[in-house]
Amino acid sequence: MYISSLSLKNFRNYIDQRAEFSPLTNVIYGNNAQGKTNILEALYLFSQGRSHRAKTDRELIRFGEERARLDIEFRDAQRGYKAVMLLEKNGRKSIQVNHIQLTKLSMLMNYLNIVMFSPEDLNLIKGSPSSRRRFTDAAISQLYPSYLSALNDYKKALIQKNSLLKDRKAADRAMISVWNEQLAENGAKIMMERSRFAEMLNKFASETQNEISGEKLEITYAPSVRLEDVCVDAFMEYLDARMTREIEFASAMFGVQRDDLRMTINGADARLYGSQGQQRTATLAMKMALSEYIHHIKGEYPVLLLDDIMSELDITRRRYLAEKIRDKQVFITSTDTDLTGSTGSTSVFRVVNGEIFKE
Ligand SMILES: Nc1ncnc2c1ncn2[C@@H]1O[C@H](COP(=O)(O)OP(=O)(O)OP(=O)(O)O)[C@@H](O)[C@H]1O
Ligand SMILES: [Mg+2]
Repeated sequence: MYISSLSLKNFRNYIDQRAEFSPLTNVIYGNNAQGKTNILEALYLFSQGRSHRAKTDRELIRFGEERARLDIEFRDAQRGYKAVMLLEKNGRKSIQVNHIQLTKLSMLMNYLNIVMFSPEDLNLIKGSPSSRRRFTDAAISQLYPSYLSALNDYKKALIQKNSLLKDRKAADRAMISVWNEQLAENGAKIMMERSRFAEMLNKFASETQNEISGEKLEITYAPSVRLEDVCVDAFMEYLDARMTREIEFASAMFGVQRDDLRMTINGADARLYGSQGQQRTATLAMKMALSEYIHHIKGEYPVLLLDDIMSELDITRRRYLAEKIRDKQVFITSTDTDLTGSTGSTSVFRVVNGEIFKE
């Protein structure tokens, strides 16, 4: 699948700009703070419905303006799509795909799949379990909207259960058990999907790590709720059996909110013992694995967004990546142009203070 054009009106530092893209490599270059990442952010919005970095949609609207409008055209193997997104200062947001209004943001993922890779992604290895859960959840949600609704229902039930546990007088066991049932129903689904995802991720990522560095990367799912057989009943039993401790600590201590992915390189914990370079390679391997995973499920490669990443990689990794992305659509931002060993099918854009010039 590939994106053929984008136009931005009052989005970030863009007043009114349009660009047409190559179905293969697109290099976006320019000095710092000119609007390179803003373009990737706009593209990403059309797959996830929200920005990879902004806390609120208001930040996306050009200073002093009431609304932003983004138009995008993209294709998959079957057909072409036109999508429009309107963002208003009062928080209203609307999205149309081929003139049909989407009722839920998550519906976007049925149309456009994007994998983004930015320097902050190093946190995937170094950071807390929550960064790995975010990665896992975003990845699975792109492919299975029912996973996203299970996740949302789980989060709602967890908030209720926690507020019940905090108020010790209200925390009676029957009430907690009601929430445990809801947590178990959604939690079992979440666990099964995460486990399946980790297996696929491991398969693809370990191949990549091995190809780049000859090292053995291993990724395994590390669930908080340890069950021999993952099912609703067993999940609920597990939670109910730990109710006394949760009441004592006034907090929901067990459940998928504590899950993690465990990563080892040549047998040692990548988070604790991985060198900077190893962690970088493992991050790259995970992102490439995600792209393979989406291809495996959907039969199409997602669009890849690489923000400032080339300068972070040494020449071997850069070459490897260039080889891997040769036949897929990719957007690369950089402060200079000569990073990719570009081919004839590369489009180059220079960004200067909110204006896009095709070279
Ligand atoms: N809502 C907004 N309205 C107007 N300008 C904005 C808005 N949000 C961000 N900007 C401007 O956009 C610019 C940053 O854009 P962006 O993050 O895309 O830079 P970049 O080219 O990727 O830079 P770097 O190379 O440093 O990563 C800044 O000049 C910032 O002031
Ligand atoms: Mg940037």
